[in-house]
Amino acid sequence: MSARQPTTYDVVGIGFGPSNLALSISLEEHHANIVTDPITSVFFERQPRFGWHRGMLLPAATMQISFLKDLVTFRNPTSRFSFVAFLHAQGRLAQFVNRKDFYPTRQEFHQYLEWAAEQMVGTVSYGSSVTAVRLPEGRSGQEADHLEVEVRDAATEQVRRVGARNIVISTGLVATLPDGASRNEHVWHSSEFLYRYGQADLRELKSVAVVGAGQSAAEITRFFHDNLPDAQVHAILPSYGYSVADDTPFANQIFDTEAIEDYYYGGQSTRDAFWRYHRNTNYGVVDVADIRGLYQIQYDEAVSGVKRLHYHPLTRVQGVEERDGRGRALLKSLNRPAPYELDVDAIVFATGYAQLDPSTLLGDLDRHCLRDASGRHQVTRDYRLVTTDDLPFGIYLQGGTEHTHGLTSALLSNIAVRSGEIADSVVHRRAKSELLAIAG
Ligand code: FDA
Ligand code: NAP
Repeated sequence: MSARQPTTYDVVGIGFGPSNLALSISLEEHHANIVTDPITSVFFERQPRFGWHRGMLLPAATMQISFLKDLVTFRNPTSRFSFVAFLHAQGRLAQFVNRKDFYPTRQEFHQYLEWAAEQMVGTVSYGSSVTAVRLPEGRSGQEADHLEVEVRDAATEQVRRVGARNIVISTGLVATLPDGASRNEHVWHSSEFLYRYGQADLRELKSVAVVGAGQSAAEITRFFHDNLPDAQVHAILPSYGYSVADDTPFANQIFDTEAIEDYYYGGQSTRDAFWRYHRNTNYGVVDVADIRGLYQIQYDEAVSGVKRLHYHPLTRVQGVEERDGRGRALLKSLNRPAPYELDVDAIVFATGYAQLDPSTLLGDLDRHCLRDASGRHQVTRDYRLVTTDDLPFGIYLQGGTEHTHGLTSALLSNIAVRSGEIADSVVHRRAKSELLAIAG
């Protein structure tokens, strides 16, 4: 951001993960195509540098989607920000193709995202938390010509304000633990796994537990078993065993743009059917290769007679407390009449995430946002919150739209197309308001 740039922007992006990174690229590529002034934009990211779920960047973890579902390709296959362009720049294109595999590791995809983010560095301010969005003091929505975005600098604690004609909230998923559990030295959430693991005295980790039956749980269970050769590893599964993530071709169609149309314009029974039949493409499920790997360990231990991977099937955690410098989990199994306790040196809750909820950031502005009969935000097809007529600014969401746009809301599959749709919407709405102003 140079001093010559305006302090009121067409777009202020809140969060700079893959979604808003894709948007920043989309806006830049738009500049080449529009005849009026470029759309001005700035993005705020609370992390000190670009990072995509760094706490789960386990060495062997692979992507859950094809490399072609990168930041740009589905919107603009000729973009210079594609994964293929990244591979070419690294001199690895031929080697990647020789693998004959659509799925890079998460570590390589992270390198790709960092490479793209590095090229957009002029539009993003790192170490900057957005703490509030409001109307300028003393002005109503009709009197104001912008929203005020409050930003706190992580290093200096200083607060500054910028103006926004549109905001794009893309603050990501929110880690959740079951009721009765809170984080401490022994109680971790999967989202912070590598940070906690890096801080722990590994000699002290003689017994560990992982809660959940999703992809995070499976990866962490495997990681513990591989990296703590003397530790007992407990896997607490709500199901009887891990269930496979359906990534077969027909099921994969639910991530296509056409499916988003079907979901958005379908009735509630259509939407319910998407979830009933296809939740197992993403939630509480595990990649088949990881399931086979974990089963092989169980079998190898049966052969050797040395068992240190212990499954607790049909079991949920009801609470956890610190006891004698360790974590004590209270477990309830469907197979046992009474709850039982498990003492471990670390317990990792791989219990998933809640969707982005814009209400907290919006504060008082939230009462201008209309809700459906179930109390959920109404969202237009172009990802804008439906607001009362007296609030003419665009409040866009990247995430938090599962109820209106379906399963891709929190995933990468659609970010190239979605960010293009948002950029188009901003451009068209600005052109329309300029025309209206000229018409008087
Ligand atoms: P993301 O959470 O990535 O970014 C949000 C950003 O906003 C963060 O950088 C955060 O710091 C910042 N932020 C939050 N509040 C802020 C504030 N107030 N002010 C400023 N900044 C703020 N999906 C998929 O399709 N394929 C995959 O392979 C995977 N893999 C995967 C692995 C793991 C471990 C998880 C947990 C999730 C996935 N996902 C996934 C799903 C995941 O949601 C998706 O990959 C992206 O992270 C979505 O990108 P976003 O930019 O929307 O959110
Ligand atoms: P998730 O799929 O939501 O799974 C959470 C698991 O925790 C479920 O099995 C859930 O069971 C269980 N659970 C919740 N409360 C529990 C309790 N009290 N006791 C026992 N179990 C409990 O979460 P996730 O595995 O973190 O995956 C989230 C997203 O991240 C997905 O999109 C996934 O694909 C992605 N991800 C990707 C990678 C990768 O790219 N390699 C790695 C990790 C995660 P119930 O459903 O029965 O409550």
